[in-house]
Parts: sequence; C-alpha cells; structure tokens
Amino acid sequence: MSEPLIRALNIKKYFPVRMSFSGALRGEKQKWVRAVDDISIDIYPKEILGLAGESGSGKTTFGRTLIRLLEPTEGSAIYRGVDIYKIKGSEIKSFRRKLQIIFQDPYDSINPRLTVRDVIAEGLIINKLVSKDKIDEEVAKALEDVKLTPPEEFINRYPHELSGGQRQRVAIARALVLRPDFIVADEPVSMLDVSIRAEVLNVMLDLKEKYGITFLFITHDLALAKHMSDRIAVMYLGKIVELASSEKLIENPLHPYTQALIAAIPVPDPSAPKVEVKIKGEIPSPVNPPPGCRFHPRCPYAFDRCKVEEPKLKEVEPGHYVACHLYDKS
Ligand SMILES: Nc1ncnc2c1ncn2[C@@H]1O[C@H](COP(=O)(O)OP(=O)(O)OP(=O)(O)O)[C@@H](O)[C@H]1O
Ligand SMILES: [Mg+2]
Repeated sequence: MSEPLIRALNIKKYFPVRMSFSGALRGEKQKWVRAVDDISIDIYPKEILGLAGESGSGKTTFGRTLIRLLEPTEGSAIYRGVDIYKIKGSEIKSFRRKLQIIFQDPYDSINPRLTVRDVIAEGLIINKLVSKDKIDEEVAKALEDVKLTPPEEFINRYPHELSGGQRQRVAIARALVLRPDFIVADEPVSMLDVSIRAEVLNVMLDLKEKYGITFLFITHDLALAKHMSDRIAVMYLGKIVELASSEKLIENPLHPYTQALIAAIPVPDPSAPKVEVKIKGEIPSPVNPPPGCRFHPRCPYAFDRCKVEEPKLKEVEPGHYVACHLYDKS
C-alpha cells in the first residue's frame, strides 16, 4: 500500500467533567470524559474511511481532534510527515486549509446572512487563493462540482432559500474551493430527508474520484458506511474495536460488538438468515469505562480475561484488525 496521508498515533481526547462547587470544596478529584482513548490508525490517500459506532462512542470527537479543531490531550497526527499538533503560528493556516470538515447540520454551519457566493468565497479571500476578479469563476466552478447548476441560479441566494440538501452541498463547495486533501464528513446526511441523501452522498463520491480527496466518513449507520467507504473502523467507548475493508467488515465481522451492530441493520428480506447477537444494556459512561475490555459487561462471549485485560487492536488476517481476546491466542 502507499504511504498514509494521515497517521493518527495514540490520540487521546479527554474532557474535564464539571465539578460541583461543594465537590470542589471537599477536594474531590477531577474526573475526565475519555471521549477518545488511545486511537492509532493510518488513513491512506484517496480512500474513504468509514467511522461507525453508537451515539457517544467518540466519533465526532475523534474527527475533530484529528484535524485539530479540538486540541488533543495526547498523541500525534502526522500529515505529510508533519505532526500537526506541534505546528505553531502562521503555519497553522496553511495546513488547516488542507484539512476540512463538513458538519452534520447545514443549518447551523452556514451563516444565514451571507449569500451562497459569500459563504463559498470567504475561505478563498482569507487564504488569498485567487485574485478578486477570479472569485466568481471559482465559486461557479465549485457550485458545478456539487451539482448546484446552473450556478447563476444559486450564487445570489441566501441559505434560507435553499433546501437542506442544497445547503449541505454549499457546505461541501465551501470546503472544496480550499482544495483540501482530507475532509472529515461528520454524519453529513443524517439531518437530511431520506429522499435527498443519495444526491449529497454521490457528490462526495464524485469529488473523491475527480480530485482524489480522502475522507473520514462518520456515521452511526453501518449499511451507509459500507455503501460509502473503502474501509470501516468501528468505535466503542473511545476506542477502535475493529478495522477492515468494508466487505470484510460487513460479511465477516469478528468483534461481538460489530456483529451486534450488523445484526441490527434492517434487511430488505426479513426471511434472510442473520446472525443474532444480542448485546445487553446501554453504552456505559466514558467517565468510568469498565476495566479490561470496555465491552465486556455487554458481551455475550465475555470470559475472565476480558474483565481484567484490555485487548489490543491486532491484525488477525491481512488488513483485518480486531481488539478482542477471542482472537488473541497470546
Ligand atoms: N465538549 C465536551 N465536553 C464534555 N464531554 C464531551 C464534549 N464533547 C463530547 N463529549 C462526550 O464525549 C463522548 C463522545 O462524544 P462524541 O460526540 O464524540 O460521540 P459520537 O460518537 O460522535 O456520538 P453521536 O453519534 O451522538 O454524534 C460523549 O460521552 C460526550 O458526552
Ligand atoms: Mg457525533
């Protein structure tokens, strides 16, 4: 395989739990939400890496920390040979332009007082990427790339004059004009009507092909992750528990948690055979994750070792990684 575009190395992101005044007076120890707890993963050029897992597993926190929208607690993110967590001052601007994010909610992420032109042109102007007289041309090109055509029809509109899907495509165009290498797409269609999701997703797939953009595609929907991604990583309580090519992960899931997520995917044919893996209870708090394997209290196969020893993410067949003692004979 080629060199990774981005290497996450032992990334942790902990948030302080707000203490009560009386607790602080009593000298209670500061507690931490371990939202991302030691993640290492290589992301390769031009791939779409899906990141799946239940609500609260830390997907958004990981995506944002990876591109340093959040400062990490620990770890490194190596992008083109440089640890972006160590970059200071004016250099930050140039790498930030290359690593973009598309948020879940296009209603929140776009300034309602700006026209489509101004939303998209803002980054071009700040980064001085094109001369003034070329801005409209560049904006029009981006609108065409996200299939808001003809551009003249959209360029002077305000966000409220667009549908949700169109607004999300404006958000993609805004990232696109910065000529990014890497885009974190954080549940980019989950707020949109089911009927218009496909067109937004297809725009992303086209951009990957046309410009070779690499994506981290965050979703809680494994079926969607499979449709979009080359590989899928599954997160549970701040950790990656399984990583494989999309086909492998869906057809031959190894981690009991992945198996349970897959069993929960609705199938078009209800009579189709399906592995039933039932997981007990709810996702525990990342403030006090269970000892040993974090999944053990919910795992139907847990045995003694799982309660005391944290399993490491290990390669069990080429390209297929799992963190589970069932597969670790050492
Ligand atoms: N700024 C913050 N301060 C404190 N805790 C936070 C903060 N942001 C996230 N968390 C906590 O970190 C954990 C992971 O949250 P995160 O939003 O990353 O999960 P997620 O997998 O993206 O979930 P969802 O599918 O609901 O979007 C949760 O327990 C959440 O409450
Ligand atoms: Mg999230």
